[in-house]
Amino acid sequence: MEIGTNTAQTPVVPINQRAESNHEAYKKRRESHEQRVVETYEHTARQDFNPTDQTQYLNIGYWKDGAQSLDEAARALANLVATSGQFNQHDCILDVGCGYGDEDIFWMEHFQPQRIVGIDINPTEVKGAAKQAAERNLDERIDFQVASAVDLPFEDASFDKVASIEASHHFMTREDFFHEAYRVLKPGGRLVTTDAVPLPGRKAHFINPVNAYTAEVYANKLKNAGFTNVQVNSIGAHVFKPYSNFLLSRLGKFNLLGFINVMMHRFFSSRLDYILVTADKGEA
Ligand SMILES: C[S@@+](CC[C@H](N)C(=O)[O-])C[C@H]1O[C@@H](n2cnc3c(N)ncnc32)[C@H](O)[C@@H]1O
Repeated sequence: MEIGTNTAQTPVVPINQRAESNHEAYKKRRESHEQRVVETYEHTARQDFNPTDQTQYLNIGYWKDGAQSLDEAARALANLVATSGQFNQHDCILDVGCGYGDEDIFWMEHFQPQRIVGIDINPTEVKGAAKQAAERNLDERIDFQVASAVDLPFEDASFDKVASIEASHHFMTREDFFHEAYRVLKPGGRLVTTDAVPLPGRKAHFINPVNAYTAEVYANKLKNAGFTNVQVNSIGAHVFKPYSNFLLSRLGKFNLLGFINVMMHRFFSSRLDYILVTADKGEA
């Protein structure tokens, strides 16, 4: 018998080719997952799932400081991310899962960083984000691109800050994103995210199973990706229930379907925590 031949029916595939085809298979799985995420957001957009009136934020907001509308609460969340990320005038910021770019416009107007790049896998949202920036004459300083969080089209050490609001539970996988974020951050840079995670011992059906781990595991995965000074804080009390109270307050008296939807949201989110996370890339 010659070495390298196979007596079984299946031909032997050289290891480098196997790695390549595994990579191709992984890429296909990831792309079809991302396509499903895009379709979900297109569908919810048609149903006006997130009822903002003045903005196009897609997050569920931070209600601690008495926000009266989802627009105000979503802005408050963007503000919390910026202050936690210590955004400043010297920063070049990457926003991953930027949606319609409302947070980027808010950051540019209130924190005046040098530059912001927003990426998202949804071309409709990226187009909408670019339109919003152009309408405010901010298109020279904010750039939007279609790209995936787990395959960032940027050189190593390109950004001072990487931010991601309520998006990374979708990524395939969130852990791959942590590695990409670390790679594109400059030494001394900071990652800041808000995210939904299962509470310990709870099943979370809303969350992509590959990302359905607790806040403690989240912190460990960040450390494994190289981050230091990892801070994970629960802000769930100021997010889920006030958001569903807000949805309830907008329902008409006889909207039974709407009522059931809000109750389902409340039931599923009772298994989740909502976290605010910062993690640093140490100086070289
Ligand atoms: C809940 S929305 C938040 C959008 C925006 N950050 C906001 O707060 O309005 C989540 C966003 O993540 C985007 N997203 C999901 N998976 C992604 C991926 N792999 N890469 C980049 N963006 C992704 C979705 O298209 C969606 O726009």
